[in-house]
Amino acid sequence: MMRFAFIYICLAADFQLVLNSPTLGSKNNPRLLDKDIIKGVFEYQDHQNHSVFFYHEESEEMYVGGTDFVLKLDVDDYHIIEQFPLKTLEQQRCQEGKCKNVITVIEKFQDSLFVCGTNGKKPQCWKLFSSVNNQSHEIVESYEGRGISPFVYTHNSISLTAGGDLYSAAPLDTDGSSLQFRRKAGSRTNVWMYDNWVSEPTFISASWVKREEDPDNEKIYIFFREKNSDHNPEADPWISRVARVCKVDEGGSKRFFQNMWTSFLKARLVCGFPEESLYFNRLQDIYVLHADDWHETRVYALFTSSWNSTAVCIYTIAMIEEIFENSTFKGYDKDIPKPRPGTCVRNSRTLPLTTVNMVKDHSEMNDWVHSLHHTAPFYVSTNNYTKIVVDRVQAADKHMHNVLLLATDSGKIHKVLEAGSEAFIISETQISSRSPIQSMKLASKKKRLVMGFSEKISIMDLERCQQNMSCADCVLARNPYCAWTEAGCVPTVLGGIQNIIDGNRSVCPSPEEERKQINRTKRETASPSPVDLRTTHSVPLGVPFYLSCPIDSYHANYIWEHGGQSSPCLQMESNCLHLIPSMAQENYGGYECVSKEKDYTKVVKRYQLTEQIVSETNEDRNNNPLGNYVVPVESSAASDAVPHVEWITLGLTALGIFN
Ligand SMILES: *[C@@H]1O[C@H](CO)[C@@H](O)[C@H](O)[C@H]1NC(C)=O
Ligand SMILES: *[C@@H]1O[C@H](CO)[C@@H](O)[C@H](O)[C@H]1NC(C)=O
Ligand SMILES: *[C@@H]1O[C@H](CO)[C@@H](O)[C@H](O)[C@H]1NC(C)=O
Ligand SMILES: *[C@@H]1O[C@H](CO)[C@@H](O)[C@H](O)[C@H]1NC(C)=O
Ligand SMILES: *[C@@H]1O[C@H](CO)[C@@H](O)[C@H](O)[C@H]1NC(C)=O
Ligand SMILES: *[C@@H]1O[C@H](CO)[C@@H](O)[C@H](O)[C@H]1NC(C)=O
Ligand SMILES: *[C@@H]1O[C@H](CO)[C@@H](O)[C@H](O)[C@H]1NC(C)=O
Ligand SMILES: *[C@@H]1O[C@H](CO)[C@@H](O)[C@H](O)[C@H]1NC(C)=O
Repeated sequence: MMRFAFIYICLAADFQLVLNSPTLGSKNNPRLLDKDIIKGVFEYQDHQNHSVFFYHEESEEMYVGGTDFVLKLDVDDYHIIEQFPLKTLEQQRCQEGKCKNVITVIEKFQDSLFVCGTNGKKPQCWKLFSSVNNQSHEIVESYEGRGISPFVYTHNSISLTAGGDLYSAAPLDTDGSSLQFRRKAGSRTNVWMYDNWVSEPTFISASWVKREEDPDNEKIYIFFREKNSDHNPEADPWISRVARVCKVDEGGSKRFFQNMWTSFLKARLVCGFPEESLYFNRLQDIYVLHADDWHETRVYALFTSSWNSTAVCIYTIAMIEEIFENSTFKGYDKDIPKPRPGTCVRNSRTLPLTTVNMVKDHSEMNDWVHSLHHTAPFYVSTNNYTKIVVDRVQAADKHMHNVLLLATDSGKIHKVLEAGSEAFIISETQISSRSPIQSMKLASKKKRLVMGFSEKISIMDLERCQQNMSCADCVLARNPYCAWTEAGCVPTVLGGIQNIIDGNRSVCPSPEEERKQINRTKRETASPSPVDLRTTHSVPLGVPFYLSCPIDSYHANYIWEHGGQSSPCLQMESNCLHLIPSMAQENYGGYECVSKEKDYTKVVKRYQLTEQIVSETNEDRNNNPLGNYVVPVESSAASDAVPHVEWITLGLTALGIFN
C-alpha cells in the first residue's frame, strides 16, 4: 500500500519549500536534481524581450542577438569576445521605445555574418564582415529585410542558409500576415509558396539534409503547424506538418508557376497513440540530428496537446521520404503523372504541366508520417517543455548514445537518455527560477548548452559529473557524459566503467576492490563517503525532533530503519525526513536512512540519538498548541567529531499521515 504524506510547514527561516516535488521511486522523475553545473552566467544590462542564438559548428563561434546588439561569446573560456551595437537608424521617425532593433536572424551567409532585425518596424539586414587583423566586425552592406525578419519580434519567422542560398519565412505585412517560406537570396532564383498550400502557418524549423553522393536530390525540409481544415468541433484546431522542396528547384516556366516551388509536398506529422486516436497536434520545436547517411538522420519533434502534456516523437528522414515517394495524393485518384510530383529535376522550368499542376492543387499526401515507435510517442511528460536539442555522445563503452536536452517553461533543463525505445530521465537542472528559456543552442563538440533568458545568458557544462559518487551510483545514473574510474565519477574516458544501456552495476568492482582503488587515488580534499558519517545528536525527552537524509536519486525508494523496524520517509524538497512528534525512550538509539534502487541498497545516512538532560525552566515550546519541531541544521556534511548544530524552530501547523 502506498503512503501519502501531507505536510504544511510555516517557516521563519529563509529557505523555500517545494511541496510538489517528484514522488520518490517513480521512473517518471528526473533521477537527479543537479546543482553547480552552470559554467558561466552573463547578466544583461537591460531586460531582453527576445534573443536569438547562432552557433557555427565549423568555426565553433557562438553569436547572440538581443535588442540593439549582437555579441560573440566564447563558450569555452566563458566571456564575451565582442559586442556589436546595431541600433536602428530610424530614431527620429518613431516614438519613444518603438524604435528598437530587435535582432531576429543571425546566419553565416556568403562568408560573413548576416544579421537582421525589426529595425523599428522596418526590417533590415546587415552583413558584418570580420576583418582579419582586428576581431571587430563592421557593417559592409545593408539590405531591406522584409520577408526575412518579422516587423515585430513576436511574429513568427525562421531562416536557413544552405549551399550559399538564404531561405526564410517571415510575414510580408506589418500585421503578421502573408507568411511564406521562400528562397530569398543567393545564387539561385528566388522561389516562394503558392498561397493555398498552407493555412495560418507557424513555421518551426527548416533543415537542409545533404546527400554527398546525390546532391541533385537534396531536399529542404520544413516543419510547421497550421490551422486544421477539419472544422469538426472535436478536431484539434492545429495540425502539424513536414513539407519538403528540392534544393535544385528553380520554380516553374515563364508561362506557369514562375518563381513558385514546383516540388512542394506536405504530409501530416503524427505523434500520439494512433490506436486510441489520441494525438499531440501542436508542434512546438524540432531538432534535426544529422547522420553521415541521410536515411538515418533523425528528427526529434516536441509536441504539446490540448490536454496539457507534452510528447517527443522521433522520425528518420528515410521514414519521411517513404511517405513523399510512395503515398497517394489527397483529393486525387487518377494516374499519377510522370515525373512524380516532388521529384527533383535539374531544370524545374521544363517540368510537364501535369506534374506542376498536381503540385499546385494536390500537394498533400494521403499517408501520414508516423513516428519511430509508431504506437506511442517516444516520451510523454506532464512537464511543459518548450525547446529541444539532442546531443550525440560517445560513452565509455565506445557506443554512441543520444541525449535529449529539454527546456521546461519554468527555467529547467531535463537531460533524457534515448535508451532504445525507452526514455530515461537522467537529471533536472534549475537554470533560472525567474523566467523561461527564450532560446538555446547546443555546442556539441564543446559539450556546452547555451541558454538565453530575459535577464541573462547561462552556459551549462554537460560533462560535469558528481565526482565523489560510488561506482554503483555513477553507473545507475546512466549518464553517457560520465564514467567511473579510480578517480571517481568523471567526464567520460574510454575504458571507464559505465553501463548506459541498462544501468546494471554488476560492471562495477566489488565494494572492497572499489575502496582499495579509491584509497590509492584519493586526494586530500576528497570527502569521505557519507556512510562513514554517523551523526550523533543528544536530544531531551519529550521534544519533537526530526532526522533528515539527502535524496541522491528520485528513482530510489527511501526508508528509515530503527530498532528493527522501518518507517517511510517523509519527503521535503531534496530531503527525506523522519519525524518524531515527541521523544520517548524507544526513540533513542541508531537510525539508518536506506535507499533502494533496482537491486542496489545503500545506507545513505546514520544517526545516533542519545538522551540529553535539560533544565525545565526556559522552555516555551508548548505555546503552539500543535507543537514545535526542533530541527538540527547541520553544517556541511556534518562532521562527527564536533557536531555543529544550529537550531531552528518549525511551527508545524498540520500533519496527517495516511496509510
Ligand atoms: C521589453 O518590453 C517592455 C514592454 O514592452 C519594454 O518596456 C522594454 O523596453 C523592452 N526591453 C527592451 C530591451 O527592448
Ligand atoms: C580593434 O580596433 C579598434 C579600433 O580600431 C580598437 O579599439 C580595438 O581595441 C581593436 N580590437 C582588437 C581585438 O585588437
Ligand atoms: C490545462 O491547464 C490549464 C491551465 O493550467 C487549465 O486551466 C486547464 O483546465 C488544463 N486542461 C486540462 C485538459 O487538463
Ligand atoms: C516505396 O515503395 C516501394 C515498393 O513498396 C519500395 O521498394 C520503396 O523502397 C519505397 N520507397 C521508399 C523511399 O521507401
Ligand atoms: C507551456 O509553455 C508555453 C510556452 O511558454 C505557454 O505558452 C503555455 O501556456 C504553457 N502551457 C501550460 C499548460 O502551462
Ligand atoms: C561530494 O563532495 C562535496 C565536497 O567535496 C560535498 O559537498 C558533497 O556533498 C559530496 N557529495 C556526495 C554525494 O557525497
Ligand atoms: C545485471 O547483470 C547481471 C549479470 O549480467 C545479471 O545477473 C543481473 O540480473 C543484472 N541485474 C539487473 C538489475 O538487470
Ligand atoms: C582505506 O583507507 C581508510 C582510511 O583512510 C582505511 O580505514 C581503510 O582500511 C582503507 N581501505 C583499504 C581497503 O585499504
